[in-house]
Amino acid sequence: MKSSVNAILLCGGKGERSGSKINKVLCYFGAKTALEYFLDAFSPLCDNIVVVSAERDIEQIREISAPYGAQTVLGGDTRTQSVRSGLNAIKQCDVVLIHDAARPFVDQRTIKECIKSAQEFGSGIAAVKAVDSLKKVNDCVITDEIPRDDVYCIQTPQAFSFDKIKAAYLNVSGTFTDDSAVYMAAGGQPRIVIGSIDNKKITTPEDLISTPPCQRIGAGMDFHVFVKERKLIIGGVEIPYELGLTGNSDADVLAHAIMDALLSAIDMPDIGVLFPCTDEYKDANSIELLKTVVALVNAANRKIISVSATIMAQAPKMKDYIPLMRKRLSSAMGISENSINVSATTTEGLGAIGEGKGIAAGAVCLLQ
Ligand code: CTP
Ligand code: MG
Repeated sequence: MKSSVNAILLCGGKGERSGSKINKVLCYFGAKTALEYFLDAFSPLCDNIVVVSAERDIEQIREISAPYGAQTVLGGDTRTQSVRSGLNAIKQCDVVLIHDAARPFVDQRTIKECIKSAQEFGSGIAAVKAVDSLKKVNDCVITDEIPRDDVYCIQTPQAFSFDKIKAAYLNVSGTFTDDSAVYMAAGGQPRIVIGSIDNKKITTPEDLISTPPCQRIGAGMDFHVFVKERKLIIGGVEIPYELGLTGNSDADVLAHAIMDALLSAIDMPDIGVLFPCTDEYKDANSIELLKTVVALVNAANRKIISVSATIMAQAPKMKDYIPLMRKRLSSAMGISENSINVSATTTEGLGAIGEGKGIAAGAVCLLQ
């Protein structure tokens, strides 16, 4: 007979250390809340899910969890008490998984391994091997080495045979930071399975913003045609040449590609919409327009991590001007020169660019 698997998802904390106004469980990481990430991961693998919530979040958590068929119950003052509430809400099952909502990016491989280990050995605790050197420290002074060969960092999910962990929580008193400690205090021998370093715990404000789903990329492209009697301005630098680029603004093709990359990463209309071909933008300095776009990036609560751009031109040679372009562009964007790379290429004579009819530029950016 197929063994039944239930999961207790712990959302009963306050998330105080994250500095967020709302519980970290309800924060969005890209398109989904943390809660939806792990509900998506657990629900296909579980027969029943119990979500444990604090009183202030319960309505919102219930609303998000209900479409998954999950039951929402009220937690307690400590994690240990919240686990007890979750266990009390389950009538019977073979294996119960206990998972901290503070780890939204758990993968299904880890969940399956934990279940398998609990079915076979009574417990399966996700853990990763310690990789840093470990020391004991007293008042900022290192006092002792901790050999790390047999040291593991314990994560969740933690799976147990339901009867054993239920009995352990009934018989043990005190407060514990994880369930393997309760299982051990009741005489059990918790067994680990190898988890994943991507199953990271969200605790601090830095954790909230540095998770991959919080990063956005953007791409932009621009083309301008050569004409006589115009300055050639690329990346905010005037390049001596017999031709310049035509356009309503100063036709800085590189700054334009970068602006479009930034705007696409914050889901805003492109520069054609933002700075239309009107008198207002006639001969506009594109470095100033770039500063306006960066202000929009900041207003969208995003930070530029890096920009990478390419100029496509048969002539003139760009090499000598690139260091100054990086200086001007990075200062306009408020980032370090190392965070912007500019390269240049010819098209080997191919196409309109190769025939020297104009210049193109492309850019990608990464925002946090
Ligand atoms: N938790 C819980 N009930 C509590 C306390 C914590 O269900 N009374 C849950 C949290 O929601 C979290 C997990 O236990 O998923 C691990 O706790 P922690 O990372 O400390 O989260 P918070 O307690 O929410 O954060 P903080 O300590 O910063 O307030
Ligand atoms: Mg806590």
